[in-house]
Amino acid sequence: MNLSENRKSFYITTPIYYPSAKLHIGHAYCTTIADSIARFKRLAGYDVFFLTGSDEHGQKIQTAAAEAGVTPIEYVDRIVAGFQNLWERLNISNDDFIRTTEDRHMKLVQEIFRRIYDKGDIYLGEYKGLYCTPCESYWTEHQLDENGCCPDCHRAVQEVTEKAYFFKMSKYADRVLEYIENNPDFIQPVARRNEMINFIKQGLEDLCISRTSFDWGIPVPIDGKHVIYVWFDALSNYLTPIGFMDDQEKFNKYWPADMHLVGKEIVRFHSIIWPCMLLALDMPLPKMVYGHGWLVVDGDKMSKSKGNVVDPNLLIDEFGADAIRYFLLREINLGQDGNFSRDALIKRINSDLANDIGNLLHRTLSMVTKYRDGIVPAAGEQDEIGRSLIADAEKTVADYEKNMEAYSLSDTIKLVWAFIGRANKYIDESQPWVLAKDETDKAKLDTVLYNLAESLRVSAVLISPFMPQTSPRIWSQLGLDGVKAFADVQLDEIKSWGGYPADNHIGTAEPIFPRIETDEEKAAKAEKAARKQAKQAKKKQQ
Ligand code: MSP
Repeated sequence: MNLSENRKSFYITTPIYYPSAKLHIGHAYCTTIADSIARFKRLAGYDVFFLTGSDEHGQKIQTAAAEAGVTPIEYVDRIVAGFQNLWERLNISNDDFIRTTEDRHMKLVQEIFRRIYDKGDIYLGEYKGLYCTPCESYWTEHQLDENGCCPDCHRAVQEVTEKAYFFKMSKYADRVLEYIENNPDFIQPVARRNEMINFIKQGLEDLCISRTSFDWGIPVPIDGKHVIYVWFDALSNYLTPIGFMDDQEKFNKYWPADMHLVGKEIVRFHSIIWPCMLLALDMPLPKMVYGHGWLVVDGDKMSKSKGNVVDPNLLIDEFGADAIRYFLLREINLGQDGNFSRDALIKRINSDLANDIGNLLHRTLSMVTKYRDGIVPAAGEQDEIGRSLIADAEKTVADYEKNMEAYSLSDTIKLVWAFIGRANKYIDESQPWVLAKDETDKAKLDTVLYNLAESLRVSAVLISPFMPQTSPRIWSQLGLDGVKAFADVQLDEIKSWGGYPADNHIGTAEPIFPRIETDEEKAAKAEKAARKQAKQAKKKQQ
């Protein structure tokens, strides 16, 4: 029997990103969260499918391409290549990347349109509405903000009248409400759930799903004058790569999705429109829509006009991908808004990465080299502090799993770092340099060195969903590459103490996170140098 057939599956998606604007650190935040969850699930033994992609149709793109003097596909190709490059640099482990301009997706959207049309849930009507071009959203009068503008971006809306196809969403409102009420986990966090319940209770209108005023979209299969309008096209992406049209077995394995991770402003589309579409297709509904908060920069929402858009590529150049990932996941509680600041990033790198984990590794490897010629000895009998370290490690792994299953990423990181701190303290408490002076009881020092190597083995595995580049580096420095390739390691292997093979030779030690000078330190240094120079100049004059 093939074991993998019995593994639990886990299907996670990010939104598909618009190629209209440059990707910023906010997009990287969303994708990094999804990646860490996907990596954790793989570590915990799930069969994971992780999807991200790009949402390439719509009037905005058509206009931008015309302004740039290129065709829409030329325009999006270039930008999407930039997305893919960024995800590679950030070590995003997506299993597929869906582009809504791909044939496989366009066919699927047309098929969905046909099925819902044949059922009688799509009809041709006339749309008179208030349209926000930047958000590609129609709004009703009562949804506008206090100035009569778009409730999302607060820009002016335009009145539009045109023939359009409509999806009978109103028909499914009661069933979606019932689903939300019967499945408390469906919309997370709970504040978003309450908002959605109120939204549906105000009454759902049928959804306009086609446009005739531009043609950069998927043609309506029964009427060539229309293209399918953005959300109907975009949401269907979640069905494309998991075999909806061509691989029933694969499809049954991954659908319904376990988690649609989205920004808080698009929870509504995912938890109301999407379920209505799926109900019209007689399909089961996703298990969870999780709305994460926004990343703001120095307290302000990123925008081109404010000039505070943080480019993730430049940050990766300067600090490396893992430091950025660590910062985003550690600093912000999923579901709440969070702040990005360069200062805070450098402080975290210095304290948590260079200092805590960096020092634990450096101190351990130096002592194994100095006292035991690079060979990690077998542990002798554990004393009280050794036993407490072991108990702490086992509790950390158990709590880690619980916290990760609940998607409390920041809390999980905090408890891993509490363990790393505990291991550093263990060095101070057990004073190996004192034990080394008096080797009458050699086993004592052996035990301390073994416990430290094992603590690092456990830590390398625990941090791997967050810092996928750092973990294999620690693994390699611990000399574990020949024992097992890091990519094959599972969470089960650190659940009980003692997995580090005794008498194993460590690898080559090298710093994993060099300390970074803060801007304040740089300024202080420059000031000191200037003072010195002035002093010398004065001396010369005398
Ligand atoms: N194309 C649609 C999604 C369709 S999904 C079927 C879209 N694209 S987007 O590019 O505008 O946004 C994609 C995601 O990026 C959203 O979830 C959004 O919340 C997220 N973010 C954009 N700016 C962000 C921050 N500043 N902070 C965190 N996430 C941010 O919407």
